[in-house]
Amino acid sequence: MADTQVLLLVHGFPLDHRMWHSQVGELADVRQVMAPDLDGHGNARDRPASDNMDDIARQLARHLDQAGVEAVDLGGFSMGGYVCFAFWRLFPQRVRSLVLIDTKATADTDAGREGRDALAAKIRHEGAAAATDAMLPKMFTANGPEHIRGVAQQIMLEQPPEALIADLMAMKGRPDSTPDLPNINIPTLVVVGDSDEVTPPAESEAMAAAVAKARLVTIAGAAHLSPMERSAEVNAAINDHLAR
Ligand code: MLT
Repeated sequence: MADTQVLLLVHGFPLDHRMWHSQVGELADVRQVMAPDLDGHGNARDRPASDNMDDIARQLARHLDQAGVEAVDLGGFSMGGYVCFAFWRLFPQRVRSLVLIDTKATADTDAGREGRDALAAKIRHEGAAAATDAMLPKMFTANGPEHIRGVAQQIMLEQPPEALIADLMAMKGRPDSTPDLPNINIPTLVVVGDSDEVTPPAESEAMAAAVAKARLVTIAGAAHLSPMERSAEVNAAINDHLAR
């Protein structure tokens, strides 16, 4: 696969590779799309999950090494975007361009870190249902298609609780990536749902303003999980980015 152009997509919390179903299908004409499960999630549940963004980024590097791929267009949704920043810091030469979807560069606030601990404690007692209850209402607008909501719910309920707790600790401990933004000198697409309350449009606007070669696309009628809720619009934005 060495000469193939690869788009590597990193899923968010509390999800797995299936969130990218539409992108894997629709973008296959323009890129070889790799959408791995992070260790501990989905089909990679037999491997222990990492509770550290750098370790998660190294997992991705191992996937690429195994596939014989050197550099990629790298995209991430939300937590996946936090992984993208870690990957870019560790392996800048392996990133051709970035696609940052419903994510942010800032670190957790103190209140946010307390929230991570509280949700982790709940997941310890109640399992993946606690993460599903916390996140599903924020993923879609009230008009979000019921069947897509059902698919997302199923994906969330199927994640091993230990992996979700590791995700929360990785997110809690992630550094502020804001100081890196002026050093990102590759084409960068920033996508955000206009109704995203988890990583609000203002965060995306700030990222796009701070990255020299960034373009911001705001998706109308999408909450946090825009790649599932408004897949056609998100895919069109990615397609356009990759064609540039
Ligand atoms: C995600 O959607 O991946 C996470 O909820 C983002 C976050 O909690 O910071």
